[in-house]
Amino acid sequence: MMLFQAGNTCRRCMMFLAVFLGSAGHFAVASEIRPAHAAIASAHPLATRAGLDMLARGGNAFDAAIAVSAVLAVVEPASSGIGGGGFYLLHLKHTGKNIFIDARETAPSAASRDMYLGPDGNPVAAGSTEGPRAAAIPGEPAALGFIAKKYGRLPLRVTLEPAIRIAQDGFPLYERLASAIRYKQVQLAKSPEAAAVFLDENLAPLTVGSLIRQPALARTLQMLATSGTGSFYRGAFANMLVSDIQRDGGIWSVEDLARYHVIEREPLTIHYRDATLVMAPPPSSGGMVLGDALNILSGYDFKALDHSTQQHLYIESLKRAFRDRAEYLGDPDFVHIPVTQLLSVDYAAGQRTSIRLDRTLPSNSLRPAVASEESPSTTHFSILDKEGNRVGATLSVNLSFGATYMAPGTGIFLNDTMDDFSIAAGVPNAFGLVGAEANAIASGKRALSSMTPTFVETPRGALIIGSPGGSTIISNVLLDILNWLDGKSAKEIVTTPRLHHQYLPDVITVEPNALDTQEREALERRGHVLKDSKYSWGNTQLITWDFSSGQIEAASDPRGFGLGLVVY
Ligand code: DON
Repeated sequence: MMLFQAGNTCRRCMMFLAVFLGSAGHFAVASEIRPAHAAIASAHPLATRAGLDMLARGGNAFDAAIAVSAVLAVVEPASSGIGGGGFYLLHLKHTGKNIFIDARETAPSAASRDMYLGPDGNPVAAGSTEGPRAAAIPGEPAALGFIAKKYGRLPLRVTLEPAIRIAQDGFPLYERLASAIRYKQVQLAKSPEAAAVFLDENLAPLTVGSLIRQPALARTLQMLATSGTGSFYRGAFANMLVSDIQRDGGIWSVEDLARYHVIEREPLTIHYRDATLVMAPPPSSGGMVLGDALNILSGYDFKALDHSTQQHLYIESLKRAFRDRAEYLGDPDFVHIPVTQLLSVDYAAGQRTSIRLDRTLPSNSLRPAVASEESPSTTHFSILDKEGNRVGATLSVNLSFGATYMAPGTGIFLNDTMDDFSIAAGVPNAFGLVGAEANAIASGKRALSSMTPTFVETPRGALIIGSPGGSTIISNVLLDILNWLDGKSAKEIVTTPRLHHQYLPDVITVEPNALDTQEREALERRGHVLKDSKYSWGNTQLITWDFSSGQIEAASDPRGFGLGLVVY
């Protein structure tokens, strides 16, 4: 496996390395050129096709993003949906501006820092992952309405049509979703409305090829299309949602829903070698961890290093960046995050002083977290339209089928994004991530996320990228970016096996076939502990655009069921 090939010399890296915060991250290079073709990569062929259909009907990338999001809510209900949230990174061709739409779920006002701890002070099993009490106020409906109004050209009546039709008529069950249903069979069986859709009359999981019809979800989507997305947050639907949720043990209030709004934030921008990266800001940790890791790596002359040392440095950079994630990151509207300092070249230089080329430095002695089994939840899609507008969006309900609670009569699974908060200091969440005060639960706060939609641009081309995978999203995106910068094709990037480190637990998680014997031994000699994962992770959806040849590629991760298409 090639992790990443030799790049520029160290001097050159240092020359180009600069951090620009607070700028809108304008791309200088591509501003003059337009792509010859449009492209979409998403986690399901029906979603990719619905997006392309919007482009064919005169819509732009943002209309396509609405259609893709809505169809994914129907065909990938374990991964994202109307009951969840996400982040949209937009590039507006006519102004050159990059915009980050934070549609992250917010903690209900009745949420409190110890709400998932029992009388003994320990976390209550599944408290933050199952049932309506695990759900934060969804951002997805608001995001769809906001994007349509501010950036789209087509009405929701048009952009939501494919999703409504597919929810109504059904789609054939495919293996990735079937495996999520098997994985959550017991929980789905507890919700009669969910069981009616995903289980048979004996409460056994439906098998591949079965038709999945979701009439209640079709009605909810139809309501959003005809009455606007505000109908989710105010009025009869909202009142019904809140009263059912409260009856079933949840803590949402009518005011929580009415108060929800998406937030437009400035993306983070850094330069690495000759590339400009436009990245997700807090409450995503994606941009901070990516930026920190790349700043650390920029100090090395990769060309002069052997392959194993390159792998070692990739891991060491992640270890340090994830340590900072645990300590400093949370909702920027609640905690002060030293963004400029953490992304400064001086800070990275300081971090490099603790890195030895021949030895790993152990993470601290906190108890190791148990890594979670990969579940097919969360989704990413990438879009490029012929005008040059770009979208990278990562959407989620958190774990598979979110809280596995389907709000009665709505067809919607509520998220369990409350588990992304730090439930207690040092207590790992479902992804084994630990956190501190910065990510403690508070009323109205947004939980720290790893979702990392990212744009990269060099004088040679552009990349739109992202993936699901909880904490592994960030290492996945980092690896993919390094491979793209080193000249790999879109297809090679999505097929490359992955390595992950997140500071704690202090192990390298290894995808099947990611390391050969020599590479293993070389890492172990440096003191790394390897943990072989039985599962693969990630479901990258990316688009590459080569400016000089004009070639555009859309690639979908072979680990998933998705489809990348370029329209010629
Ligand atoms: O925002 C986050 O970091 C998580 N809720 C994402 C969950 C996820 O990617 C699950 N994927 N397998």
